[in-house]
Amino acid sequence: MPHIVNHPLIQHKLTLIRNKNTGTKEFRENVNEIAGLMAYEITRNIELREIRTETPLMSCMTWELARDIVLVPVLRAGLGMVDGITSLIPTAKIGHVGMVRDHNSLEPINYYAKFPYRIKNSVVLVLDPMLATGGSASATLDRLKKEGAFELKLVCIVGAPEGVERISKDHPDVEVFLAALDDGLNEKGYILPGLGDAGDRLFGTNDFPF
Ligand code: PRP
Ligand code: URA
Repeated sequence: MPHIVNHPLIQHKLTLIRNKNTGTKEFRENVNEIAGLMAYEITRNIELREIRTETPLMSCMTWELARDIVLVPVLRAGLGMVDGITSLIPTAKIGHVGMVRDHNSLEPINYYAKFPYRIKNSVVLVLDPMLATGGSASATLDRLKKEGAFELKLVCIVGAPEGVERISKDHPDVEVFLAALDDGLNEKGYILPGLGDAGDRLFGTNDFPF
């Protein structure tokens, strides 16, 4: 089962981005804010190591993150989640995977991939606002595993049951985090009720086609 990160602030902002009258600026701001709030919850249990620190008064033992954190936004729409997370984790490295769904087959086409050098030993957060059929996320996780990454978390804002099932079948080792689990998909592969085309709404590339 996916983890539903349903903090009241996230739910309030989710309502704003679902609203068809929310424009590009407000949509982009709220996607980033939701991503930051989700990352705060998701990183609650990540590994720490103890280090010695000199305060102005004395030496004491303190904690720091034990592992690098790598964010991998799935282009394009995943880019909309990056700034909200790097404002909390400014040392995070960033990889990129380009995936676009063929509009007829709904199959993902991988057109770009570039990763930080130390991705193998990092905690990797894969970012995409939408988990619809799960094809794009599954192919992204395949690509990352080929690169040697093994501690992978999939962070999406809205998911469909079909996408959740696909990830649990293809990648049972990957934890899935959502702000909401929606009802299903329409015949064109859009999530219902969803929020429309996340990439288009983030980047203002299309009038809403419904
Ligand atoms: C959207 C979305 C996901 C994918 C989800 O991207 O951002 O990557 O669809 O659908 P799936 O779960 O059925 O694969 P899209 O292909 O529209 O590309 P874009 O981000 O460039 O708009
Ligand atoms: N991609 C989107 O951007 N929205 C959906 O509803 C499904 C896939």
